[in-house]
Amino acid sequence: METIIRTEKVDKVYYRGKPEEVRALHQIDLEIFKNRFVLLRGPSGSGKTTLLNVISTIDRPTEGFIFLFGEDVSKYSDVGLSRLRQKRIGLIFQNFNLLPRLPAWENVSFPLIPLGVMEKERRRRSVEMLTQLRLEKRIDHPPEQMSGGEQQRVAIARALINDPDIVMADEPTSNIDAKSIKTLLGILMDLKGKGKTIIVSSHDPVFLDYSETMFLLKDGKLIDIENPNDFKCP
Ligand SMILES: Nc1ncnc2c1ncn2[C@@H]1O[C@H](COP(=O)(O)OP(=O)(O)OP(=O)(O)O)[C@@H](O)[C@H]1O
Ligand SMILES: [Mg+2]
Repeated sequence: METIIRTEKVDKVYYRGKPEEVRALHQIDLEIFKNRFVLLRGPSGSGKTTLLNVISTIDRPTEGFIFLFGEDVSKYSDVGLSRLRQKRIGLIFQNFNLLPRLPAWENVSFPLIPLGVMEKERRRRSVEMLTQLRLEKRIDHPPEQMSGGEQQRVAIARALINDPDIVMADEPTSNIDAKSIKTLLGILMDLKGKGKTIIVSSHDPVFLDYSETMFLLKDGKLIDIENPNDFKCP
């Protein structure tokens, strides 16, 4: 088993102006293996989004270390971190974070710009990705004219355009309907079949049947780790 993400004594404190501070993560030690489907659970406010943000390097921990692909990324500069994300991590945000008026393909092609890919090739690759996600009829449509499920598939296409090793999704079922949830599960299982590591933060019990590893967060602490093949839980 190859470790793809490891954290060591990670703390995250949000300073909302002194003296009020929120300790969102306490001494998080976790290990995630390559090609696992990982579920992050816990009540609202327990720190799931914060944990996803720090392991995806969008945000830095206040204390502790994060190892991605065997490297201590605490030492990376902000530019180094964004390069790493661009190449190896695909993020699907709860609210999709799309530009509502730009055509779907342009939204999808954004991560290719810093890599120096020219427009024609950007469009070609975006169209291919959107077609794989059954959005071939929405290539030039802006997200503001799409359903929630379609918008999410545009966001997924954007997350996958650089062929990342790790795909992370924060509460991916909260803004889509039942049919789109099924589609999403199909896409995630397909990615797992291709060797990707999937990390989902969600309350939705629908993921319990799909995930192999589960982390439970409570008040910023990891309280339990279930083993592969051995869980059915609350
Ligand atoms: N930017 C921020 N500034 C200050 N406090 C924050 C910030 N983001 C989150 N928090 C606080 O940190 C704690 C953890 O928040 P987080 O968003 O990680 O929880 P969550 O488990 O994702 O919750 P939910 O299930 O509601 O999405 C909460 O107490 C929250 O109020
Ligand atoms: Mg959250």
